[in-house]
Amino acid sequence: MYHVSVDQNYPRSLIQFLVEFNDIALDHQIQAATRGKFQSLPESWIAWASEADDRWKDIMAVYVSDDDQVYNDMPADLHRFIRDSASITLPRSPFFVPEDQAPARVHGVSPKKIHEVWTMASYITALLSTRSVKPIIVDIGAGQGYLSRALSSSPGSFHVLALDSNDSQTAGSIARKDWISMPETVDNVESSNGSGSLTQKTVFIGDATSLKTAIEEWIRDDLQQQSQQPIPVVLVGLHCCGDLTPAILRFVEQSLPQNDVFELVGCVIVGCCYNMCNTTSFPLSRSVSIDLSHLGPLSLDTQHLHLAAQTPLTWDLATPEGVLTSSSAALAIRKVTYRSLLARRLPALYRPEGDLPMCSDVDWRQKRVGRLRDSAYRDFPTYLQAAREKLGLKDNPMAPPGSPEEVKPEYDLSSDLNTGEVFLSRTLEVLYVLRCLLGPPVESLIAVDRYLFLQEAIYNIVNGTDTDATPTNQSSSESDRANGGVKLVNLFDQSTGSLRNLALVWER
Ligand SMILES: C[S@@+](CC[C@H](N)C(=O)[O-])C[C@H]1O[C@@H](n2cnc3c(N)ncnc32)[C@H](O)[C@@H]1O
Repeated sequence: MYHVSVDQNYPRSLIQFLVEFNDIALDHQIQAATRGKFQSLPESWIAWASEADDRWKDIMAVYVSDDDQVYNDMPADLHRFIRDSASITLPRSPFFVPEDQAPARVHGVSPKKIHEVWTMASYITALLSTRSVKPIIVDIGAGQGYLSRALSSSPGSFHVLALDSNDSQTAGSIARKDWISMPETVDNVESSNGSGSLTQKTVFIGDATSLKTAIEEWIRDDLQQQSQQPIPVVLVGLHCCGDLTPAILRFVEQSLPQNDVFELVGCVIVGCCYNMCNTTSFPLSRSVSIDLSHLGPLSLDTQHLHLAAQTPLTWDLATPEGVLTSSSAALAIRKVTYRSLLARRLPALYRPEGDLPMCSDVDWRQKRVGRLRDSAYRDFPTYLQAAREKLGLKDNPMAPPGSPEEVKPEYDLSSDLNTGEVFLSRTLEVLYVLRCLLGPPVESLIAVDRYLFLQEAIYNIVNGTDTDATPTNQSSSESDRANGGVKLVNLFDQSTGSLRNLALVWER
């Protein structure tokens, strides 16, 4: 089965690229708007961006195109940045297509979820089909148990332990019987005569002990399996959000030495929600730490983690004729730009950044503009009115309460964009899109770091030494083995809406 090839120099190239353009990642558009200055963009980029409307569409055209065409006299170094950000990102096209068709429709389950569950269950079943001893499976962060149910049913018919920290998810998973027919259950554990079983439990996976205890109790109390040999276990997780993926990887590292009850023989983990990660969860691997110490400084802070969720390639912008037409991307960009321009019209006291004192009619840190209806973004005055109502502000928040209002132009919360703000808004759009282009390289670096961490852990156990486990090109099963059986696999088709499609796979 195909997987992403991670060249030896790839982590270093990613780090060099992200270090070079780190100022852009950190130049948040709200701060740029309130300062009225773009600290990260060269003058030539700002001049080009502010010259005409919708310059961000030229950027996207360069990003998605197959040739080196330059649009509207774009500066050469800007063009290079865009092309490099596209080419340095891990490929994301799906590598695995299940032989069987997914169920067409399942009541109450989105087509995206059906695609993910069906593809992942098919992949895991195919991956494990050649093993001499059938492993049992632990589904971590199982949610409503869609994947667990698919794996415990035919054709895989695995014994599955579904773990989730949220009691209502576990209860929902137990209650759901409507998708994929399952054998009769007895006390929430199906009797197994060659058939699979499903056990759901609420467990918070924080340290290695919680997962180890949950697996041992399951084997002893629910499966009632006793064997002279440790039982082979595979860990799976579909969209293990935030720090759940690093927690699983640390568990693998600590559990690799022999255990009397079970033996870890593989994992298939798809992460998600990088914005929920603790910034201390990067880097995990020794090799990325070393590269960072030579090429850094680069720490992935909250801004980077938010950007990692961006997938500009899926913005649905390019038609076959190369005309950019997406209204949803345009709306998203307009939302960000209007929000930044609003911050500029607010006195410093009301702005989100900085350690500001409480003010009389709004505590900014508690009261955010939040979600507004799409029609609020028709034009800037409409947006200002909607935002004002949401924040409980007057036309001019500087006017003392009860006094006749004297509208200071800079804090005016009703008038349309002035000429300076029109120029500013064009560059804000460009800045935002450029920052989004950094998201996929950031996600690539996080994925490669996790991949290397797992590989190093396996090397250390197998070789009993502290090996420098930089990966080599992985295109053959031979190099698979050289990499300890660790690989990155694009499982899902992003065009179905499954944006987090990269699985970290290991098989012993
Ligand atoms: C994005 S959802 C995915 C759910 C399911 N795998 C799916 O694809 O439908 C992530 C799940 O992980 C659970 N979770 C998050 N952190 C966890 C932890 N530390 N231990 C156990 N479960 C956790 C959440 O409660 C949530 O149900």
